[in-house]
Amino acid sequence: MSFPTQRLRRTRRREALRRMVKETKLSADDLIFPMFVVHGNNIKNEIKSLPGNYHLSIDNLIKEAEEIVKLKIPAVILFGLPASKDEVGSEAYASDGIVQQAVRALKSEMPDLIVITDVCLCEYTTHGHCGIVENGYIVNDLTLELIAKTALSHAEAGSDIVAPAGMMDGSVQAIRKALDEKGFHETLIMSYSAKYASNLYAPFFRNGTRSIATFGDKKSYQMDYANTHEALREVALDIEEGADIVMVKPALPYLDIIYRVKQKFGVPVAAYNVSGEYAMIKAAGEKGWINADEVMMEVLTCIKRGSADIIITYFAKQAAGLLLDADRQR
Ligand code: PBG
Ligand code: ZN
Repeated sequence: MSFPTQRLRRTRRREALRRMVKETKLSADDLIFPMFVVHGNNIKNEIKSLPGNYHLSIDNLIKEAEEIVKLKIPAVILFGLPASKDEVGSEAYASDGIVQQAVRALKSEMPDLIVITDVCLCEYTTHGHCGIVENGYIVNDLTLELIAKTALSHAEAGSDIVAPAGMMDGSVQAIRKALDEKGFHETLIMSYSAKYASNLYAPFFRNGTRSIATFGDKKSYQMDYANTHEALREVALDIEEGADIVMVKPALPYLDIIYRVKQKFGVPVAAYNVSGEYAMIKAAGEKGWINADEVMMEVLTCIKRGSADIIITYFAKQAAGLLLDADRQR
């Protein structure tokens, strides 16, 4: 059937009709809020390149998490800034490390909030790389031992989901084994399965975690942004090794990858709407070149339309706030 019998503008004519045929509805349930935790007391310093996001000491982390719960966001992902760094990232797997302390505090104050912990060494190493460095190369298997140790220390502190971020081969297997050996069968693994070597991470490691790599780049372990099939192989391996949720990162320029992963594997797919994606929208909004709130809602809805089940985003609070307001007005 075709024009003039068919007129697709009919369902667009009125707001209520548009609501009825809307195919993708963004919800606070879809969102994960990243949080940055630091040692000390009463610290709440805005991260310059991520306006609206803060370095928080544990007391303020709890207050912020209470807001998150009120906004009906189900989960947070924690990043830590250590007291000191060394070659092997010791604080990453210290039982009294900043993330381990934060998890204990959050789980005792707000047991229903899902706490996810980023498992990586780069925030804790002097060189800023995601693994152990030998002769300028990031070695895989030695790193696996340390990230398994890190994940286990997070699980022992009460983390619900551990999220290996370093793109080392065999990460999920090493972590699943370490967790299962200690009885943590119920701890989930959300793997940064297809993490690309992206230029969009700069605001995160420059101001967010202050873990900029001191030499080279991360292209010997993070993926080439030109590749698709390799991402599918990464995801297949992670599922075989025991991943419960797989992630594609970044999100917006990678919707094709998100879509293909969901189509091919049908597992829960998370998309990481990264710091650079956030910063670009915020900066253009500040200049008055775009309406940042409207672009935010568009981008997040489109990431979901592209097949992401879950979106990790620095916009989580702002978006959930707008969604709640919209609900109240109806
Ligand atoms: C650490 C990590 C990075 C991000 C999340 N975890 C940086 C990197 O690996 O270079 C980036 C997040 C963002 O840009 O929002 N492995
Ligand atoms: Zn890392």
